[in-house]
Amino acid sequence: MAFDKASVRDAEVDGKRVLVRVDFNVPLDGQEVTDDTRIRAALPTIEYLTGAGAKVILCSHLGRPKGQVVPELSLAPAARRLSELTGKAVVMASDVGGEDSRAKADRLEPGGILLLENTRYEAGETDNDPELASRLAGLADIYVDDAFGAAHRAHASTAGVAGHLPAYAGLLLEKEVENLTSVAADPERPLVVVLGGSKVSDKVGVIDRFLEIADQILIGGAMCFPFFKAQGHTIGNSLCQDEDIPLAEDALRKAAAGRCELVLPTDLTLGREFSADTETEALAGTDVPDGWMGLDIGPQSASDYASRISTAGTVLWNGPMGAFELDPFAGGTRTVAEAVAAAPGFTVVGGGDSVAALVKFELTGDVDWVSTGGGASLELLEGKTLPGVAALNDR
Ligand code: 3PG
Repeated sequence: MAFDKASVRDAEVDGKRVLVRVDFNVPLDGQEVTDDTRIRAALPTIEYLTGAGAKVILCSHLGRPKGQVVPELSLAPAARRLSELTGKAVVMASDVGGEDSRAKADRLEPGGILLLENTRYEAGETDNDPELASRLAGLADIYVDDAFGAAHRAHASTAGVAGHLPAYAGLLLEKEVENLTSVAADPERPLVVVLGGSKVSDKVGVIDRFLEIADQILIGGAMCFPFFKAQGHTIGNSLCQDEDIPLAEDALRKAAAGRCELVLPTDLTLGREFSADTETEALAGTDVPDGWMGLDIGPQSASDYASRISTAGTVLWNGPMGAFELDPFAGGTRTVAEAVAAAPGFTVVGGGDSVAALVKFELTGDVDWVSTGGGASLELLEGKTLPGVAALNDR
């Protein structure tokens, strides 16, 4: 689907100060970035701008410091990683659009990079405070939003600031929206959607929308237990939120009345408890006995899902099939990840946990599009308008 927002490529950036909102909300171990995927994903926009002679002023949130300066959530480790990746100096400001940011922005040369401190050190960020938005805008001539992962937040640095400056989409944001919307807009058929994770409530918007669009929805992860409960199966000690049961019933009803096939596992791998060294049991069925919990889809279901994925024209995968972080329960997620990686159709993976599974099984490079968004990709797939995208200038 054509993306209808103005692109950074349309902007005159030579010698201009460009404020770029990125999503550097990356995992840290002390001072080290442990997964730099999101920083790498922003490189095309950053390098495009520095190459075109812009003075690049980056900003991002990290974690949820709730308006307080939390030193452990400083963006300094991200600045160091960015400097390693670009081979350029990255100057760090100690505030969010304050005196230090202004002084350092003024000293930036064309091609230089400045990174502001964590935007959520300011309470006004999540409140979309107009004063903070205009303070950020005051640093720059042009605004570029490349923070797809934060585009579902109407915050000062993702939405408010765009009202003060010519506002363009970054290269990552543009590709994310194009790839994720193309799955629903004009997919090659059959369209197979694989959904996992722990809660139906997290995915109900996607289920509802894709029951109307997809050919098959394959369910895995702990979110299959509300479905089994709704069908009258026993679920033992498996994870199941009571409020998810009516949502599952509703989805089953809609599926029965519609053309999309809603597929549940037919076998499970059980454990006594959520632990890698617990006793395990293969269950050839879906009635979980007392004293056991379902922690993965079984091998028969995994191979059925893999074969459906292999004949799909388009595959969308969001959410693991089981507790893949525990080796005895990683089989279903691994089989699905391998099938997605090998699928001849167009493949899109979104959501933090399924991306973590791809990383674990070293399959990231074999998928057509791996989204950097968690909540943002789900909301876009639900068909919602993302405030960070809506705020940008039209093409
Ligand atoms: C994410 O990690 O999904 C984004 O960076 C958004 O973070 P948030 O959920 O704290 O707004």
